[in-house]
Amino acid sequence: MNEYRNRTALVTGASKGLGTALARDLASRGSHLVLVARSASRLEHLADELRAQYGVQVNPISADLGSDEGVQTVLAATAALPAIDLLVNNAGLGGVGSFVDRPLDEAIAPIAVNVIGLVRLTHAVAGRMANDGRGGIINIGSTGAFQPMPFQNVYSSTKAFVLMFTEALAEELRARGVRVMIASPGPTATEFFADSEVDPAVRSLDSADTVARDILDDFAAGRTASYPGRRSNRPQTWAARILPRTAVTRITGDLARKNGFDV
Ligand SMILES: NC(=O)c1ccc[n+]([C@@H]2O[C@H](COP(=O)([O-])OP(=O)(O)OC[C@H]3O[C@@H](n4cnc5c(N)ncnc54)[C@H](OP(=O)(O)O)[C@@H]3O)[C@@H](O)[C@H]2O)c1
Repeated sequence: MNEYRNRTALVTGASKGLGTALARDLASRGSHLVLVARSASRLEHLADELRAQYGVQVNPISADLGSDEGVQTVLAATAALPAIDLLVNNAGLGGVGSFVDRPLDEAIAPIAVNVIGLVRLTHAVAGRMANDGRGGIINIGSTGAFQPMPFQNVYSSTKAFVLMFTEALAEELRARGVRVMIASPGPTATEFFADSEVDPAVRSLDSADTVARDILDDFAAGRTASYPGRRSNRPQTWAARILPRTAVTRITGDLARKNGFDV
């Protein structure tokens, strides 16, 4: 059975990186798409490519998910669809650096998108799915969710929220026909670090295509948690459950300093 053929999937953060890879992979599996991000031209370009290559319907929507207005734009533009079968909450951002030495706006922006935007969109779409008694949600978390991360402090805290929120929501919606999965990628080759002063070359990265494929395969296999990419990602998340949290935080902080994240 193809979980994705002739279903409608809404992918946020589809203009680049992992979101583009997820959109391409979903289109190749036969899904019709609603693509959301702020960059209208990138979305239009991707929509043209996917329509031509896979013959699926693609509806690009330019919206800022860091604002209620942006979320309302998405909801208004999708209200007439018979259903959103799959919601992929992928849009996200995160800064690198010393919390007190960086502007407050850099700390607030990830909370607005990764947490508040995700909750707003999920509340509306999951509510509709629960009423229909069917649907699926994939929330993109991070291996950074499993321990405090000095110098990526706010980002990892937003992903810890996404992890807990998603696991609890999966249990709430289990009996209502809606499947919910948390995906926890490790470092992935995207434009995620483009705006920071950190050189991602110091890190070893999974490809966005591999991560997208693993996530969609895991969801189709009925999993509620996905650890896409290299095999070592999952065992790395166990450290914070086994070692004292203070020790894990100290080690994570030392690694961050070594990688030059303490800017
Ligand atoms: N790359 C990694 O190492 C890594 C590891 C673990 C998890 N993740 C997670 O993977 C997801 C995708 O990130 P990525 O690595 O693909 O980063 P990316 O290349 O920077 O892409 C981020 C996407 O989010 C969208 N976005 C950001 N702010 C937005 C806003 N205010 N409103 C609407 N869309 C917004 C961007 O579109 P616009 O700029 O056009 O709005 C873009 O499409 C994120 O949730 C991230 O936390 C990434």
